[in-house]
Amino acid sequence: MSNAFIPLSVPNFAGNERQYVNDAVVSEWVSSGGSKVAGFEDAVAQYVGAARAVACNSGTSGLHLAMLVAGVGPGDEVIVPALTFIAAVNPVRYVGAQPVFIGCDDSLCIDVDAVETFCRERCTLENGVLINNGSGRPVKAVEPVHVFGNLADLDRLMEVAETYHLAVIEDATEALGSFYRAGRYAGRHAGTVGDVGVFSFNGNKIITTGAGGMVVSRHDGWSAQAKHLSTQAKTDEVYYTHDAVGYNYRMTNLQAALGLAQLEQLEGFVARKEAVYNQYVARLDGRCGLRMLPFRGDIRPNRWFFSLYLEDTCPIKRDALLTALQADGIQTRTIWGLINDQPPYHSCEAYALEKARDYHDKVLNIPCSTGITDAQVARVCERILGHCSS
Ligand SMILES: Cc1ncc(COP(=O)(O)O)c(C=O)c1O
Repeated sequence: MSNAFIPLSVPNFAGNERQYVNDAVVSEWVSSGGSKVAGFEDAVAQYVGAARAVACNSGTSGLHLAMLVAGVGPGDEVIVPALTFIAAVNPVRYVGAQPVFIGCDDSLCIDVDAVETFCRERCTLENGVLINNGSGRPVKAVEPVHVFGNLADLDRLMEVAETYHLAVIEDATEALGSFYRAGRYAGRHAGTVGDVGVFSFNGNKIITTGAGGMVVSRHDGWSAQAKHLSTQAKTDEVYYTHDAVGYNYRMTNLQAALGLAQLEQLEGFVARKEAVYNQYVARLDGRCGLRMLPFRGDIRPNRWFFSLYLEDTCPIKRDALLTALQADGIQTRTIWGLINDQPPYHSCEAYALEKARDYHDKVLNIPCSTGITDAQVARVCERILGHCSS
């Protein structure tokens, strides 16, 4: 068996990427003009079932636009998960608002019971605005993150949001291709249930444009405003007039060319992820105190990242396993540090963190590239089990 390095997650460019990027170069449209950006926007909108999609240059800038169009501003609060990547939370601060952190449930997504308890017990609805009793600030929005391609329980969260008049900003950066199969939102894709949703096409995501993002919204005006703000808030193409402080958050034609080729392969990527995930389950689940965290049964997940959970009975600790696998040429990673534990967020409110801390301490993300071979999966499993028994 080959001992070649096995990366955690690398892109797969087996499709029309070279041809489409070359087309863009030949056309000399390499920046934010050119037909491929609109083409990619239309293709993503059609794929997820949104009326319109607005391309931008990262998921982070997309989330910033989402906060702006949702009307989150200085002095407001936004309920966010503690267990996520910090880019989900920084945009709350970009607009001058404050996050309130909530832990996760067993899907690794935000704990909806805890969100509901926070709203009911620690806040008061005053004239249609939810006020945090402790800080006196208005709570404007909740931002579920669909972690690793699993889906947050939006069936319940949308009800809580309706009751407490919260906008729902979906961080679907990791979940392009995931959709609900049951419940009120059966058939609906990640990002299209809340008021506004954001995807990422960063290099490690299920499809990539190198860097890039996309905003969708069920409010036509919000999509139009996101587009406007992302393009320097320009009101006239000829005379260069601007009606607001906008941003250069545009995606380039080169990025969109990559995206179009990647999107053509997305369903194939999801199928390969499922096959690889099932191999890990068959080889590792229940052995040596190891458990592959499941994706929810009532959804079609994209299975972007796989989480191996080390029970207390596992003979090796998570960090020791990471180090041992590194020496074997197998790249893994720990789950993110809780955001409320990071210095910029130390002073923020945080609730119901027990599960988030446990998953933070015991999860290892293991190789999940769509291009990983069955033999490489077997090697990863053989090495993991070897370290557990040595
Ligand atoms: C949960 C989450 N939110 C936001 C982002 C930011 O996306 P980007 O890297 O495209 O800015 C990412 C990914 O990087 C992410 O995983």
